[in-house]
Amino acid sequence: LYPEFVKIVEVGPRDGLQNEKDIVPTRVKIQLIDMLSTTGLSVIEATSFVSSKWVPQMADHTDVLQGIQRVPHVRYPVLTPNMQGFQDAVAAGATEVAVFGSASETFSRKNINCSIAESMLRFEEVISAAKDRQIPVRGYVSCALGCPHEGHIEPTKISKALYDMGCYEISLGDTIGVGTPSSMFKMLQKVMKDVPLSALAVHCHDTYGQALPNILTALQMGVSVVDSAVAGLGGCPYAQGSSGNVSTEDVLYMLHGMGIETGVNLDRLLEAGDFICNALGRRTNSKVAQARSGT
Ligand code: HMG
Ligand code: MG
Repeated sequence: LYPEFVKIVEVGPRDGLQNEKDIVPTRVKIQLIDMLSTTGLSVIEATSFVSSKWVPQMADHTDVLQGIQRVPHVRYPVLTPNMQGFQDAVAAGATEVAVFGSASETFSRKNINCSIAESMLRFEEVISAAKDRQIPVRGYVSCALGCPHEGHIEPTKISKALYDMGCYEISLGDTIGVGTPSSMFKMLQKVMKDVPLSALAVHCHDTYGQALPNILTALQMGVSVVDSAVAGLGGCPYAQGSSGNVSTEDVLYMLHGMGIETGVNLDRLLEAGDFICNALGRRTNSKVAQARSGT
């Protein structure tokens, strides 16, 4: 019924931190990634090569990428919305990138300042340049279960387009966390017709407290890649009211409790969560971390 192994894509250093108002010191970001690198995670999204005018928190992308201690077999993808981001990322040593499109026209304009159609042309360029360098590209689809501006929209077309263009994995983002198990089920049923199950990931924000049931639903349907953020950090700067990603600690607790392997050590992950919450002066969003620390 469930996959035996689930790959966790840790997005805390990027999705988790991008929305922080106060600039987090580069050394803190580096230490966070280095701690995450020792947990058994195989993918840690490190930063994004976007405009520092739009997202000042990610302005230190090059220093972060060059400052981390890369652990063999761990991959450190970075977001690249266009050729400029891709070139800067490659110059900084990126060996994996991600493009991020949206199912919503309005969200696309607010997030990356262009229409869906324009974004596809940009991504095509990035994907083709990445192919030349044998750099794998992941594709995000935002607003897959709802948009703050347009309500319900179908992510099918853009998911198929990104997959057909060469993205090896399509991460379906519930950007504002409004989905429920039934909308997740219906959405996946449609997307699965065009994109193979093995190439699908779910990226749930926990705004409405639905992330774990939605993830469970995706697992029941055979999805075996889950995006999450240590300590449940985060929120998207261009989606008002969006809160953090589902916490990696809580996802691990659920998966391991169900006998599903992840290769990730929960105790070590909890330590990384403690570290970043102390550095931010913030209480963790992870229920498991709260339970374990007795707070
Ligand atoms: P733009 O202003 O439309 O770009 O930005 P432009 O091509 O018109 O260029 C204008 C200026 O931006 C120029 O500089 C460019 O050099 C510069 P100027 O001449 O004015 O000094 N520029 C760049 N600088 C650095 N890096 C670049 C870059 N490209 C152009 N790559 C752009 C377009 C996409 C860059 C901008 O809109 C942007 O940075 N947006 C931020 C997007 C973002 O980071 N959003 C959050 C991540 S997405 C997310 O969180 C959702 C996700 O988690 C999934 C989910 O939850 O659903 C992935
Ligand atoms: Mg996100």
